[in-house]
Amino acid sequence: MERLLSNNDPTIGELLHRGSLALSGVSSSARLDSEVLLGHLLGYSRTQLIINNSSLCKPEVVAHFSGLLERRQRGEPVAYITGEREFWGLSFTVSPSVLVPRPESELIIEEALAFVGSARSLRFVDLGVGSGCLSIALVVELVKQRCDVQGIGIDISQEALTVAQANARRHDVFNRIAYARGNWFDGVQKIKPPYDIIIANPPYIDPAEQVPIELSFEPRNALFAEERGLRDVRLILEQSHSRLRSGGLLLVEVGAGKRRALQDLLHAFEAQYEFSLLGDDSEQDRFTVVRAVKR
Ligand SMILES: C[S@@+](CC[C@H](N)C(=O)[O-])C[C@H]1O[C@@H](n2cnc3c(N)ncnc32)[C@H](O)[C@@H]1O
Repeated sequence: MERLLSNNDPTIGELLHRGSLALSGVSSSARLDSEVLLGHLLGYSRTQLIINNSSLCKPEVVAHFSGLLERRQRGEPVAYITGEREFWGLSFTVSPSVLVPRPESELIIEEALAFVGSARSLRFVDLGVGSGCLSIALVVELVKQRCDVQGIGIDISQEALTVAQANARRHDVFNRIAYARGNWFDGVQKIKPPYDIIIANPPYIDPAEQVPIELSFEPRNALFAEERGLRDVRLILEQSHSRLRSGGLLLVEVGAGKRRALQDLLHAFEAQYEFSLLGDDSEQDRFTVVRAVKR
């Protein structure tokens, strides 16, 4: 028989505090993680957690929450535990087959939208779709502004394509994005070039780099690239040129700490593209997006 709640049972507020303490050594966002995990478990938004701060929690909830905290303590990203991640104000389903969408990648959407302006139609490619977050966010915005947009999302991973397709259905843009398995452009026939825009967030971590434990939960082929992290960036620059229309735009996220090596690489492509580097250009060089306009 189900036991009634007693005053010895913890409140939501107490559980949240317990969660933040448990995660303080492993996460830089311990309180937020605790809120997201308990909210997921109870089906509550963060506001509802605050409103119900003094409600008592059943022992089953306490035990289940402890299990989630243990997974987080082992380094598993919150998004894999909940199966959800927000990007561009939209909720995306994620699984361990796809990279967890990162807020800094929203810069690609901002730049793409600025380039499209008030154009009435657009044909684009998203290279390495993963969860589909980039192309889906872009299409959702362009549909709002009545742009006739059609794109193709390419990934080498069939599991990632399945997640991206589910997200495209979820956001009602499945009829605007074709999905194809390919090694970048190799093997892809679906929509014929030329394209107005190609966006890409390829793997860009140097395999020799020390990385945080959380990354060991994400797919290796979403993260690491040879040639000090720049191999896939090079292939994308090589393969995109003939597929872009003249004046078309290529946006490639390139990550951190490689501005010097990147500048050497871009030098070899100067006859083909006009480049600018976007993102954080501080001394720390935390994050870069290459903006390349086809000459
Ligand atoms: C860094 S993740 C980006 C995912 C998503 N676009 C995002 O921004 O969250 C890179 C993606 O590229 C895919 N990928 C890696 N190598 C590839 C290749 N040679 N051809 C096509 N896709 C590739 C991976 O499977 C992964 O989904």
